[in-house]
Amino acid sequence: MSEIEKLKSQYLDKLDKCSSTDDLNKIKSELFGKNGLITNQFKFIATKNENEKKNFAIKLNDIKIILQEKLNLVNKKIEIEEINKKLSNEKIDVTLPERSFKQGKIHPISQVIDEISSIFSEIGFSVAEGPDVENEYNNFTALNTPQNHPARDMHDTFYLSEDKNLLLRTHTSPVQIRTMLKGKPPFKIIAPGRTYRCDSDQTHTPMFHQLEGLHIDKDINMGHLKGCLNYFIKEFFEVKKLKMRFRPSHFPFTEPSAEVDIGYDLKDGKIVIGEGNKWLEILGCGMVHPNVLINSKVDPSKYQGFAFGIGIDRLAMLKYGIKDLRSFFESNYKWLNHYGFDPVDVPTNYRGLSR
Ligand code: DAH
Repeated sequence: MSEIEKLKSQYLDKLDKCSSTDDLNKIKSELFGKNGLITNQFKFIATKNENEKKNFAIKLNDIKIILQEKLNLVNKKIEIEEINKKLSNEKIDVTLPERSFKQGKIHPISQVIDEISSIFSEIGFSVAEGPDVENEYNNFTALNTPQNHPARDMHDTFYLSEDKNLLLRTHTSPVQIRTMLKGKPPFKIIAPGRTYRCDSDQTHTPMFHQLEGLHIDKDINMGHLKGCLNYFIKEFFEVKKLKMRFRPSHFPFTEPSAEVDIGYDLKDGKIVIGEGNKWLEILGCGMVHPNVLINSKVDPSKYQGFAFGIGIDRLAMLKYGIKDLRSFFESNYKWLNHYGFDPVDVPTNYRGLSR
């Protein structure tokens, strides 16, 4: 038997016995690598005399093809074997008992944000967002609150840089500035979000939630503001009649400014909104100060409008009878189970945002 015939039967035998990808790769390089046994045989063609040359080359080619086909076959066989091995090792035991399943609840704050957004979306407001880490300009200066204004102390700000340029926003009002600087009037947005102040007791937490409202157009007046808030409060508390009053106040970013109180009564220890002779303060509002418009590149001789700021946590406490603000943020599963909402348990006035 010639040398190449010997090579062929030796390697066909080896390939028959081969059962792993590693071994197969080894054989492959032994035969067809740079210095492989078959590769080297091709170099001998030139040393043969004219008679032998043709026959040798044909034979060598045939053997090369046979070995390559065998290699491919074995490769496929090993692949299938490996898949089968994996499948049998990863068998699923369908007799195992299932894991216990606990349905989560929607946090009352998230619920109330959804409810409020839905109510305002009905009258054409869209939702805007801003970051929790704000710069001093958007949080104070642009909102007509200059360097030495007492509001900066009043806010008890968490400053994040020595130069007091970065801070945790003390209110959602900077979203007004971001919205106006980014777009062109008219603007009609609400902006719910987290806000921060150094404060902690039964009715104050260092992190709390606000909802900002802003409506700027050519002929917006305080009547629109009153109508808008009246509609919102009635819808939110699900009452037909509402006693509401505007009390003169002061905010640097609005002129005139007002605080809004709603009438309520206490019945069997529970707050009933819309009846009685007691007053409850629920939000701040006003006509946007011309300086705020100028700082936001809006021409106050052409455009004007109103803004308001609502404490979301306080509204949630009132609507759902939650007594301690701090409980919102304690991550107590029992509490959440009691006060939270099932994802399918949609309140009556919820219309969804996409309508
Ligand atoms: N930013 C005010 C605060 O945190 C709330 C507020 C009052 C927002 C009046 C407004 C507004 O947009 O017009 O106390």
